[in-house]
Amino acid sequence: MRRRQLLQLLSASAMAASLAVAGSTALAGSGRVRFLAVADTGSGNSHQRAVGAQMAAVHRQRPVDLVVLGGDNIYPSGDMALINATFQRPYAELLAAGVPFHAVLGNHDIRTANGDPQVAYRPFGMKGRYYSVRRGDLELFMLDTNGNADWAGQLRWLRSVLGSSTAPWKVVVGHHPIYSSGYYGNNASLQAKIGALMQRHGVQLYINGHEHNYERSRPIDGITYLVVGGGGASLRPILPTDQSARAISTYSFAEIEAGPKELTVAAWDSKGQLIDRAVVARR
Ligand SMILES: [Fe+2]
Repeated sequence: MRRRQLLQLLSASAMAASLAVAGSTALAGSGRVRFLAVADTGSGNSHQRAVGAQMAAVHRQRPVDLVVLGGDNIYPSGDMALINATFQRPYAELLAAGVPFHAVLGNHDIRTANGDPQVAYRPFGMKGRYYSVRRGDLELFMLDTNGNADWAGQLRWLRSVLGSSTAPWKVVVGHHPIYSSGYYGNNASLQAKIGALMQRHGVQLYINGHEHNYERSRPIDGITYLVVGGGGASLRPILPTDQSARAISTYSFAEIEAGPKELTVAAWDSKGQLIDRAVVARR
């Protein structure tokens, strides 16, 4: 094994150990929130189930408050007849433990009745096509980033809820990337729609899928862009760019903890190996 690979492995296992210790005492008596985020999940294949098993393993060690499902929840066309294979079975342990899920709609999800059946499916925890969720010190702003979304209404709503939010941590979730080094790359149209709005209101993190890889950006105008599209769909190669802090094409998900002073992002692959860890400072 090359020296560099060995060093990377050693530092990853040391980080895993320190994360486990930190996590054991974390949540009591504060607004601290821990959640998992994963997207492009709905394949119903063994990769999705392997990721789901590792998500459950994290919850057993460090209980999470909720799971964010970042769209393309049911391939290929949002057919609820596939809900068992694409959702209930892969996440059975988390669902049995009562962990709430909150989903957004991906491009594949709207191919059946424009995604309405998923919005109405209670275990997806959707209050609408776009909605917010407040937990402790965290507020999640869940968007419909599809081209046919009600953009005028949604942007009006987003301006209002971001402006009135008192949450120290503001996280926006949409299926499509804004900054990405993956297959689709940067999305100028979404940057124009919500980039400045997120900056103005102190959003720290944007989470998306659509790209079938993991990527964490360097902060761009104060915002970290986190791609968690390794949830089960066929992976695509990624070529890291200057804006990447970590980019890897592997089946994976993120574990995010929002504490009083900092937000920690860890990412795990489908074998339970730590593939990323970073701290996002409060703005
Ligand atoms: Fe997609």
